[in-house]
Amino acid sequence: MNILLLGSGGREHALAWKIAQSAKCSKLFIAPGNAGTGAVGENVAISADDFGRLKDFAVERKVDMVVVGPEDPLVKGIYDAFKDDVRTARIPVIGPSKAGAVLEGSKDFAKAFMKRHRIPTAAYQTFDGTTLEEGMKFLETLHAPYVLKADGLAAGKGVLIVPTLEEARKELREMLGGMFGNASAKVVIEEFLSGIECSVFVLTDGTHYQILPEAKDYKRIGEHDTGLNTGGMGSVSPVPFATAEWMKKVEERIIRPTVEGLKSDHIDYKGFIFFGLINVDGDPMVIEYNCRMGDPETESVMLRLESDLVDLFEGVAEGDLDKRTVVFDPRSAVCVMLVSGGYPEAYVKGYPVSGLDRIKDSVVFHSGTALKDGKVVTAGGRVIAVSSYGENKEEALRKSFAGAQEIDFKDKYFRRDIGQDL
Ligand code: AMP
Ligand code: GLY
Repeated sequence: MNILLLGSGGREHALAWKIAQSAKCSKLFIAPGNAGTGAVGENVAISADDFGRLKDFAVERKVDMVVVGPEDPLVKGIYDAFKDDVRTARIPVIGPSKAGAVLEGSKDFAKAFMKRHRIPTAAYQTFDGTTLEEGMKFLETLHAPYVLKADGLAAGKGVLIVPTLEEARKELREMLGGMFGNASAKVVIEEFLSGIECSVFVLTDGTHYQILPEAKDYKRIGEHDTGLNTGGMGSVSPVPFATAEWMKKVEERIIRPTVEGLKSDHIDYKGFIFFGLINVDGDPMVIEYNCRMGDPETESVMLRLESDLVDLFEGVAEGDLDKRTVVFDPRSAVCVMLVSGGYPEAYVKGYPVSGLDRIKDSVVFHSGTALKDGKVVTAGGRVIAVSSYGENKEEALRKSFAGAQEIDFKDKYFRRDIGQDL
C-alpha cells in the first residue's frame, strides 16, 4: 500500500516509524512532516488542511490509505472531503468524519453525548451569552475549585480551573465575552474531579474496537506539575493503576458505550478515540475525548504495540477490526520531551541540534525540527522526543534521560521528573 500520513509532530514521526515497519506498506508519504519523518518516508510539502492539494496528490501518487495525525483536519472534515469526491471516495481515511470529530471539537457536544449514553463524567451545564445569569447561579451550586471550559478548540488553552467563586464569575463573563473568540461563545461549567489522569486509546471501525496500550502524560512545563500547560512534556506506558480490573471498568463503562453510542447516533467514526480519563477513588471518569492519538503519548504507545499497525488500519477500513489482533510489548516505554527554552511562551527557532547520531539506546522522534543546509535545526516549542524501552519504567527512564543529556541545542529544557509520581 501507498500510505499518506498527515501532520508534522512527534506523534506523526512515531506513527511513521511504526507504519514503515509494516510489510504491507510499500511507500509512505508524510504531509508536511519534519526532519525526522523525512528519514522514514518521503515528506510532501502540502499542509495537513489543504484538502484540495492533498486529494490531487493522493490521486496522482496512487495513495491507498490516508492516516490523519492531528485533530485540525479531522474537525475541518477531511474524511468527508475524500469521501465526497469521486476521485478519492475509495481511499480509506483513518480518522472520524466531521460529525465524529465534534467529540473533540465541541465540549458541549461531548458532554451531551456522555449524558445521553450514561458514560461517567463530571456533572455540568452549558451557558452562552444569553444565559450568563443562569451560569452565575449554577456556579453558586458548585464547590471550589471551579472548572470552566471553552466549548470549541482553543489550542489546549480553553480550560480554566480557578480557586474562588469570585474569579469563576469573572472568568465566565470574560469567556462568554470572547476571551477565546468564537471557541468560548459557549462555556461548559463542570464539577471538579480529583484523581490521577490516564490516556486510553482505541481504534474503531465503527462497530468493533481494539484497545491500545494506555499512557500517562505530563502536561505542565515545570517539575512536580507546576507552571503553564504545554502540549506534553513526556509520557509513560504502562500506567501502574491501569490494572486489568480497572481497564475492565474502562471498557464496560466507557469504551463500549462510546462505540455503541456513536453507532446508534449514526455518526461515521473509523479511527482513533483518545479517552482522557481520571481515576476517582478507583472509578474511571471521562475528562475529555479526542479524535486522534495523543502527543507525546504516541511516542511511548507505538513502542509498546507489537502488532502491525497497517494491518489494524486495514481492519478499520474493511470493518473487520475484530479479526485483527493487538499484542502489547510487555516492556515499559517512556518518552522525555526536549523543548525550546521559553516554551510554552515565546522561544527562538533555528538552533542546530547535535548528538542525534550518538543515541544508541533510545528511539528518537522529531517533534519540531527542520532541515537547514542538510542539518537538523529546531523549528518548534517541542523539539525532540527521546523514547526508550526498559524491563521496567526505571530502566526506560534512565535511557531516555541519558539520551536527553546527549542531544543538545541552545536553551534546551526537559523535565527530569517524568514518571516519578507513578
Ligand atoms: P481538557 O482540555 O478537558 O482535557 O482539560 C484540560 C485539563 O484540565 C485536564 O487534563 C485536567 O487536568 C483538567 N480538568 C479538566 N476537567 C476537569 C475536571 N472536571 N476536574 C478536574 N480537572 C479537570
Ligand atoms: N497529550 C495530550 C494530547 O495530545 O492532547
